[in-house]
Amino acid sequence: TRPLKVALLGCGVVGSEVARIMTTHADDLAARIGAPVELAGVAVRRPDKVREGIDPSLVTTDATALVKRGDLDIVVEVIGGIEPARTLISTAFEHGASVVSANKALLAQDGAALHAAAEEHGKDLYYEAAVAGAIPLIRPLRESLAGDKVNRVLGIVNGTTNFILDKMDSTGAGYQEALDEATALGYAEADPTADVEGFDAAAKAAILAGIAFHTRVRLDDVHREGMTEVTAADFASAKEMGCTIKLLAICERAGDGASVTARVHPAMIPLSHPLASVRGAYNAVFVESDASGRLMFYGPGAGGAPTASAVLGDLVAVARNRINGTTGPGESAYAALPVSPMGEV
Ligand code: NDP
Ligand code: HSE
Repeated sequence: TRPLKVALLGCGVVGSEVARIMTTHADDLAARIGAPVELAGVAVRRPDKVREGIDPSLVTTDATALVKRGDLDIVVEVIGGIEPARTLISTAFEHGASVVSANKALLAQDGAALHAAAEEHGKDLYYEAAVAGAIPLIRPLRESLAGDKVNRVLGIVNGTTNFILDKMDSTGAGYQEALDEATALGYAEADPTADVEGFDAAAKAAILAGIAFHTRVRLDDVHREGMTEVTAADFASAKEMGCTIKLLAICERAGDGASVTARVHPAMIPLSHPLASVRGAYNAVFVESDASGRLMFYGPGAGGAPTASAVLGDLVAVARNRINGTTGPGESAYAALPVSPMGEV
């Protein structure tokens, strides 16, 4: 079988781990997919940076030329941000590749257009890594729960802010000190404002709400409050009440189920609640559905290797589709639009 050619757009915290796992797990991946996977090119901004385990001849600063090669099977987008990621993904579809992305900011803003482009070209767009790092959430919501009726998705979906809040609460660390540590550990976004002001959690809420409720929810539909105003005094008050403070994302059906609300804000959580025990950069999400009852998804929500695990899972799924000459169900299979987002509660 011919090797599947994969291009990596971005080789930072996540991309470097994707490349490492592609190399170290090459035999297992080939066995699972039914064909070897070949790293065909790596696009970066700084070509001279030493990148362990990456063949320098594969490195380019011309991501556009890479996705236009025409012989790629899968493009993995882990650059982040809106541009050039959006144009590169569209160009990849136009030139015959399917796409795996971890880019929640882009998917929350332009998911509909990107799904339409993928479908127009008969290609896949997968993004399990965009929400909650290693924790499988997109596929369970889309597939395992497709026959149920989801009523609420609620939880901690940002590792950086959970890390900061946990440090402030458990060690008395200051906000900036804890943020610096989260950044050094590779949890924070390139601009950590996205984390601490709640934009990243809001983007994830928009993606989750859209999939859970079969509708289209954009970032602007999500009511958003960050955690920069949370102080040591707030933690002291919370403790007196037997609580801690967590940044929550809450997406739920509203009214008689004909609309959807999504919001992100800090909340007092009783210490007896499972969400109070979510430490460090871990995430935890409850999904409540008619028939299943309450499910809890829990695990590492940020960081290079956990996120790369989700990227690699998508890569295997897309590669299998490619070999079988199929694509996964596109968004039109899910977005039946029985409800409409109404923004903040
Ligand atoms: P990094 O900033 O660590 O890496 C970004 C990579 O993109 C770098 O290799 C950078 O090159 C490259 N890059 C930037 N601009 C360009 C460009 N114009 N052309 C080519 N390459 C470019 O980010 P992360 O790895 O942390 O995040 C990547 C994506 O994954 C984002 O969408 C993020 O939201 C998402 N994500 C991140 C998680 C995490 O825990 N870090 C978890 C889940 C999702 P260079 O190396 O030369 O600077
Ligand atoms: N910055 C994000 C977080 C990365 O801290 O959750 C994972 O999506």
